[in-house]
Parts: sequence; C-alpha cells; structure tokens
Amino acid sequence: MHRVAVIPGDGIGPEVVEQARRVLDVVTERCGVSLDFEEFDLGAAHYLETGEVISDETIGRLEGKDAILLGALGDPRVRPGVLEKGILLRLRFHFDEYVNLRPVTLYDGIPSALAGDSRAVNMRFVRENTEDFYVGLGGRTTQRSSEEELLLKRTAYEAKFDVGIELEGSEELAYQIGVITRGGARRVMDYAFSLARSKGVDLVTSVDKANVLTEMYGLWREEVLAASTKYGIDVEFQYVDAVALHMVRAPARFKLLVTPNLFGDILTDLGAALQGGLGFAPSGNINPEGVSMFEPVHGSAPDIAGLGLANPVGAVLSSALMLDTLGYEEAADAIEQATRAVLGDGKHRTPDTGGTTSTTQMGDAIVARLRETG
Ligand code: NAD
Ligand code: IPM
Ligand code: MN
Repeated sequence: MHRVAVIPGDGIGPEVVEQARRVLDVVTERCGVSLDFEEFDLGAAHYLETGEVISDETIGRLEGKDAILLGALGDPRVRPGVLEKGILLRLRFHFDEYVNLRPVTLYDGIPSALAGDSRAVNMRFVRENTEDFYVGLGGRTTQRSSEEELLLKRTAYEAKFDVGIELEGSEELAYQIGVITRGGARRVMDYAFSLARSKGVDLVTSVDKANVLTEMYGLWREEVLAASTKYGIDVEFQYVDAVALHMVRAPARFKLLVTPNLFGDILTDLGAALQGGLGFAPSGNINPEGVSMFEPVHGSAPDIAGLGLANPVGAVLSSALMLDTLGYEEAADAIEQATRAVLGDGKHRTPDTGGTTSTTQMGDAIVARLRETG
C-alpha cells in the first residue's frame, strides 16, 4: 500500500485532479495496486480564510506520504509568489525534489503548434529543481547604505550571504542571487545521464547561458563534462536562446535536455506547445530517495477555471508518472495507452484543441477506454 497526498489547489487544479483520481481508481483496481489517498486543503481559499499558507504540522503530515499529487497553485486574489513560492517551491525544496522530469511527446490526433513535419518530437527535460535563480535570495533597497544577511538552507548544505550595498545614482535597487552548487549540479547530472543510459539516448544536450552567467554555468558545465565521461555518453552544450530556436526549427534533434531551473521552466512551456498545448504536459518533481510530487506543467488557469473547459490530460499523465515512479509500471502504462487511444480516435477534444469535450467528459472517455481494455 502506498500513501498519496492529494493537493487539488487553485483554479483548474481541482477540476483536473478529479479526473486523475477517477482514472487512478479504475487502473489501481484493475492492476491490483493499493493507494491510500488523503486530500489536503491548500491554496488561495485556505490562505484567504486563515491567513496561513501552509503549516509545519501539514508539512509533517506530508512527510508520512509516499508521493504527492498536485493540481496547481496561484490565484489572482493573492499577490504573485505567496502561494507559488509558499507552497509549491517550499514543498519541492523541503522534500529535496531535485529533479523535475518533463517528457515532451506527441499524441496521435493532436496537432502540434509546429507547422510541417514534427512527428519526430520526443524529448525529455531533466530540469534541476532546487537551485539557480529559484533559491529565493534577494532584496530591495532605497538606502544609500544597507546590510542584509541572506540564508540558503538545503537538505545537504547551508550558505550564508552577507550583502552590503552602497547605492548611488538610483533611487531604488532590487536584486536576486542565483546559486549552483557542485553537489547540486552533480546529482542532477547523475539522474540525467543514468536516464539517458536506461533509455538508450546517445547524446545529452546541456542547456545554459555560460556566455553571460559565467560563474554559475561554468560550474554547471564542469559537472556535465564529468558525467559525460563517467557514463560514456556524448554531450553537446547549447545556449538557452539557441535551444528555443532549435526547438521550433528542428525539434527532432533533441532527445534528453538537462537544464538549470529557470531555463527549464521556460523551455517546458514551449515543449508543451510542441505537444499540442499546456494541457497535455505532465511532470514529476522527483527525489529518488524521498517523497516525490507529480503535477501537470500548467498553472491554475484562472481565465478558464470552474467552466469545465480545462484539459485534464496533463494531470492524468502526471498520475501515470507517479505510478511509474512508485514502481507500478503496468498501471502507468495502462493510463498512458488509454489516454493516447482516446486522443488518437479523434472523437474527444477539449476546447484548447478546438473541440467541445468537457473536462469531465475527457475523464469519462479515458475511464471508459481503461474499462474496455481491462
Ligand atoms: P497557466 O498555465 O495557468 O495558463 C496559461 C494559459 O494556458 C492560459 O490561457 C490557460 O487558460 C491555458 N491553460 C493552462 N492549462 C490548461 C489546461 N489544462 N487546459 C486548457 N488550457 C489551459 O499560466 P499563467 O496564466 O501564467 O498562470 C496562472 C497562475 O498559475 C499564476 O498564479 C501562476 O503563478 C500559476 N502557476 C502555477 C503553476 C503550478 O502550480 N505548477 C505553474 C504555472 C503557473
Ligand atoms: C512550473 C511553474 C512554477 C515554476 C512556478 C509556479 C513557481 O511555472 O511548475 O512550471 O516556475 O517552477
Ligand atoms: Mn512553469
């Protein structure tokens, strides 16, 4: 038995997670997998009612789980970052989920945003998930002279920054510090290159901006090279701006891309567009030795929330990624095959791809397909 925490969250989060839960119920019964779900009421409503983002007690309860399934966080009534950093990033960091795995594959029946022949799109993003410009170190000052002490705490290390600023000639300054550590880079390279090995990928693409952010991505590159030697797999270095270009012009060249946190965030929305849209993209925040968290790549989509318009495929496939990570390959595969078959038959299209199928009807179709084949 595995214990799974469910955080439906904000906006379309609850709508898409509900469909993932229905699909999980069918597939787990069929494959003899036992999951024990507990739902957690976190997000804008909870915050606006109680003034609390997430309590230490809740974090403690999540520590007792084997995995977390999440919808999305973020709400127009709440200042940007409060929920996103306060819950989503806090959980990624707390559980040291240092890999963000984001596969980009095409679905029969679903057109890509690319014109022309794009049938060969099949790439995996391994996004570093705990460092870079996401570490939350920064500040603002209007004073001529100021001192700030910033603390970065991770499971494996702590770093303290004493920032002294002498400001002249501008009324205000804001700054943000990015961090890459040797160990942080090494472990994500180990994950990326062993994944490449297990999937038979013979070329890993490293994404960075080492021509500008020379310190951070200089260190990053050293670990890429070390991993390439260690695993005997070739590597190419690409700057992030060029990767954006090639993803549109020649996406088939990419098989496995290892990226720092921020560039991985941006490029995986582009990857989602190549797949047919944000609603199709699944992801896993993975700590191979700890509690991993699975969520669609998209956000809370306040513009369509509550209308039954959301595409639940990203959430459904995130739950498949969760099963796969928990060791239930057959169940994960069943969800993926059923979802692909439903998309492939062309009868079910949510409004993001020009159809009229509702969120629930898409869930119905995947559930029905699973029952037929079971
Ligand atoms: P978004 O991903 O929520 O939406 C971008 C666009 O894609 C919108 O037009 C939306 O309607 C559409 N879209 C997204 N998911 C869809 C789906 N499943 N089906 C159909 N259409 C879909 O990004 P945003 O608008 O930049 O952000 C909205 C909020 O979500 C913000 O508060 C942001 O911080 C948050 N956010 C959260 C996460 C997360 O929880 N992992 C990720 C990204 C953004
Ligand atoms: C994502 C989101 C998050 C990120 C935000 C909401 C913190 O955009 O999961 O892609 O930047 O990682
Ligand atoms: Mn994102």
